[in-house]
Amino acid sequence: MSRNRVLRVKNLSVRYQTQKGPVHAVNDVTFDVFENEVFGIAGESGCGKSTLIRSLMRLLPDSALVTASEITLSGQNLQSMPDKNFREEILWSKMSLVPQSAMNSLNPVYRVGHQVVEAIQAHRAISKAAARNRVAELFDVVGLQADLMDNYPHEFSGGMRQRAMIAMSLALDPGLIVMDEPTTGLDVLVQERILRRIREIRSQISSSIILITHDIAVIAEMSDRIGVMYGGSLMEQAPAIDLFESPCHPYTLGLKNAFPSIRNKGQELISIPGSPPTLIGESSECSFLERCPFKAEECSKEFPAIEKLAEFHEVRCFRHKEAPKLRELASNKATWLSSN
Ligand SMILES: Nc1ncnc2c1ncn2[C@@H]1O[C@H](COP(=O)(O)OP(=O)(O)OP(=O)(O)O)[C@@H](O)[C@H]1O
Ligand code: SF4
Ligand SMILES: [Mg+2]
Repeated sequence: MSRNRVLRVKNLSVRYQTQKGPVHAVNDVTFDVFENEVFGIAGESGCGKSTLIRSLMRLLPDSALVTASEITLSGQNLQSMPDKNFREEILWSKMSLVPQSAMNSLNPVYRVGHQVVEAIQAHRAISKAAARNRVAELFDVVGLQADLMDNYPHEFSGGMRQRAMIAMSLALDPGLIVMDEPTTGLDVLVQERILRRIREIRSQISSSIILITHDIAVIAEMSDRIGVMYGGSLMEQAPAIDLFESPCHPYTLGLKNAFPSIRNKGQELISIPGSPPTLIGESSECSFLERCPFKAEECSKEFPAIEKLAEFHEVRCFRHKEAPKLRELASNKATWLSSN
């Protein structure tokens, strides 16, 4: 299958320098995003999702050391680009971000519409009137009435502010939009409304979307392909259907168990006992080892390499060939309880 690639990230790692030692927040992450798709990144809190995405956007603090063998956006090498050019030519216009806690990202002292107008005028030589027309159009796309443009952020609810930030991310028609936890912190009804709106936007624009969330149900519902992150690494990635029909990594098996299947409503939920690794210092074992019910001798000796199972299905686990057996064992709650 030949598809146009929008983003390629190869061997990306991020270390934060801290007093306790280096925090290995992102470890050797490789993935592509193709035209017109939603690539979901799922994983527990603290597994490195925001760090990964903020490193691509160059929004990390100076304490973060980023390395990669390739970062290209629509074929353009981003690594060799100076920060100034990156801010002027890439950020917002070719790749935009709805940041985590976006609803708190608006400046409280300026009217909401004005903030979007400013963002447009910073990159495009258009009149204020034309920029306001564009904001009215964008408000319509995200389901906000155009006359709300002249309100202040405190006059918006959390869900409305979230939608205003989504409008901002769409403003310059970027080829790639990253949404970091777009529904977290909102009540269930508002979450549903935002997700419906994102689905509608998808049908109206041709941008690709990276959707980041720790909510496996949201990922399952919205994504074409999914990457599962654990302890700073992408442990498995696959088309959404394959990931749910034939998961291969023990962590994915555990996540899937913790998520009530649409078909098997009422099945017992099994969550993964234990907690994620601290990411401080070097490690030469599989990062899921401590919580894995299927650990074997080799798992403590080195970190498993990426294995390609099909064109778009990759996994990092020494025991991936035994996946059908592990799937069956993983569906039994006792398997998880005995691992700790
Ligand atoms: N500025 C920083 N300095 C040091 N460590 C950091 C910094 N920012 C994040 N970390 C650590 O890096 C790891 C990854 O954090 P990150 O925020 O990327 O995770 P996340 O998957 O986005 O989590 P969440 O779901 O809670 O948003 C965590 O261990 C976190 O404590
Ligand atoms: S490599 Fe070993 S410890 Fe890691 S997930 Fe696979 S079986 Fe578990
Ligand atoms: Mg985050």
